[in-house]
Amino acid sequence: MKFLIFLSALLLFVSFSSCKNKDNVVTEEKPEVIESKWEDYKGDYTKKAEFFVRDAGLALKTRLTEAIAKGGFEKAINVCNEVAQKMMDSISTANKVQIKRTSIKFRNTKNAPDQNDLAMLSAYDKLQKEGKPLASDGIELENRMVKLYVPIMTDKLCLNCHGVIGKDIKPKVYELIKKLYPNDEAVGYKEGEMRGVWVVQMEK
Ligand code: HEC
Repeated sequence: MKFLIFLSALLLFVSFSSCKNKDNVVTEEKPEVIESKWEDYKGDYTKKAEFFVRDAGLALKTRLTEAIAKGGFEKAINVCNEVAQKMMDSISTANKVQIKRTSIKFRNTKNAPDQNDLAMLSAYDKLQKEGKPLASDGIELENRMVKLYVPIMTDKLCLNCHGVIGKDIKPKVYELIKKLYPNDEAVGYKEGEMRGVWVVQMEK
C-alpha cells in the first residue's frame, strides 16, 4: 500500500513536472511572430490566377470562334451565354477556386461587380485613362481567402458583340442580345480597351 502511494505520488510529480517543463519550453521557444505583408506573397497567387484564367480564356475563345464559323454571331451569343458559365463552373470545381468575369458596364446582371470588384475596376479605369499599363492585381479577404484580378482586353473579334451598335454590331445581332439581356450595358468598346476583369477567388 505504502509502495502504491509512493508510486502514484511519484507519477503525479513526474507528470506535473513534465507539464511544467512543457509549459516552460513553449514560453521560452515561442517563435517571434513575423507578419508577412500581402505584397510579399501576392505574386504567387497572381501567377496561379493567371494560369487558370489563361485556360478559361483560351477555351472560351476557341468555342466562340468555332461557333461564329458555324452559325455566325447570332449563334455565338449562346457560347458567351451558357457555355461560358458552364466552362467557368467546371474549371472552378476542378481547381477548388471560383472564377468569374465582371465589368463596370456588364451585359449579364449575374456578372455585376461587388464592392471589392468595383474598387478594383475603378482603379483599372483610372490607370487606363492615364495611359498606364494594366497588370494583374489582388486583395486579401477575410476567412483566409484571396481575390485576384486579371484585366480582359478587347480585340477586333469582341467588337462584333461589344462594339458600337450599328457600326461594329449588326442590328440583327443586337436585337438578339437585347432580347436575352434587356439591361445590357456592355457596348461601345474600342479595340485594345479593357472590357472587364477575370476574378479568381481562392483559399490562402
Ligand atoms: C457573339 C457575341 C460575343 C462576342 C463575339 C464576345 N462576347 Fe463577350 N459577352 C457576350 C454575351 C452574350 C455576354 C453575356 C454572358 C453571360 O450571360 O454571362 C458576354 C459577356 C462578357 C463578359 C462578362 C461581363 C458582362 O458584360 O456580363 C466579358 C468580360 C466579355 N463578354 C468579354 C468579351 C471579350 C473580351 C470578347 C472578345 C474576345 C467577347 N466578350 C466577345 C457576347 C459576346
